[in-house]
Amino acid sequence: MTRWGILGLGRIAHKFVQDLLTVEGAVLHAVAASDEGRANEFGQQYGAVHIYGSYDQLLTCPDLDVVYIATRHVYHRDNTLLLLNAGIPVLCEKPFGMDAGQVAQMVETARSKPVFLMEALWSRFMPTILKAHDLIQAGAIGRVRMVRADFGFPAPFSPDARLFNKELGGGSLLDIGIYPLFLSYLMLGKPTKVRAAATFGPTGVDEQCGMTLTYADGAIAILDSTLLVKTDMVGVIYGETGTIRIRGRFHESQAMTLEREDGGETELFTADRQTFGYEYEIRHVMQCLSEGLTESPLWSLDNSQDLINLLDAVRAEAGITY
Ligand SMILES: NC(=O)c1ccc[n+]([C@@H]2O[C@H](COP(=O)([O-])OP(=O)(O)OC[C@H]3O[C@@H](n4cnc5c(N)ncnc54)[C@H](OP(=O)(O)O)[C@@H]3O)[C@@H](O)[C@H]2O)c1
Repeated sequence: MTRWGILGLGRIAHKFVQDLLTVEGAVLHAVAASDEGRANEFGQQYGAVHIYGSYDQLLTCPDLDVVYIATRHVYHRDNTLLLLNAGIPVLCEKPFGMDAGQVAQMVETARSKPVFLMEALWSRFMPTILKAHDLIQAGAIGRVRMVRADFGFPAPFSPDARLFNKELGGGSLLDIGIYPLFLSYLMLGKPTKVRAAATFGPTGVDEQCGMTLTYADGAIAILDSTLLVKTDMVGVIYGETGTIRIRGRFHESQAMTLEREDGGETELFTADRQTFGYEYEIRHVMQCLSEGLTESPLWSLDNSQDLINLLDAVRAEAGITY
């Protein structure tokens, strides 16, 4: 049994907990919100054993194995440090922190204890993305020469909404641009040069962001994110001898294809599910904890640091500030 806590009970917490409850061995042990009414409502709806109307009270919870942090971007660092300093393992939503400095502080704290810490980069654990990565590692498409990935949907504009609120880290980059960047990082590693440009909405957040990353071996990644229109949301990895297409929405895809240049049949790989898809990261965290690991072997703290470094580089290039 792994006794889970959830801190921050907003939109994503509702989806995550529904998947959590499908995972064998996972127990919803405690929930905590900054608002007591929200905590009670959420806790009762999903049958939490302990319900807390403040984050500090969560620290007093007995027998807590791990806490999932689902607050807004700008609170991830402080919420994570609160739990780590109390010796509580943490799975924290993406983006891990607001910038590289915040993430470095989280990583240093986790490693100095040591206490388990992982960024909830759920796409890393999707069967389709695992399969694509395995195929590439095995040389199925030869040397990767190009990655194309996009993430776009029309978000209803409201100056108060999290996505459009600059003070809450709003904009397309941190919310969804992170996924194309993640895919390029997973498939190509660290680029030598990041170029980016953004357009800004009435509240000053980046509504659209285009990114071009170049690599020492001549590879290139062409990525974008937008809050204005629905895009295909596919991830395509072009290699010298084949192409992998992760179907939309690539970051949570249930299907990918492998096309080989030698004329063989296109191979289809599917991973059907009835859930949102958070159970893969949930099971992975439980596996790590059962093995006594303090970092994930699939999405390490160095990986998270690299990803936030990329986000910072895009911000600097495109003039995105918070
Ligand atoms: N992995 C994914 O698929 C995925 C999808 C969506 C979002 N996310 C990430 O998850 C995080 C939360 O996103 P969300 O869409 O769930 O956000 P949300 O619904 O706007 O709110 C998240 C939490 O922020 C706190 N909050 C609410 N109003 C607040 C206010 N006025 N001032 C300060 N805090 C307030 C609440 O915490 P309390 O309940 O404690 O009061 C709420 O539960 C984001 O960092 C986002 O990037 C991940």
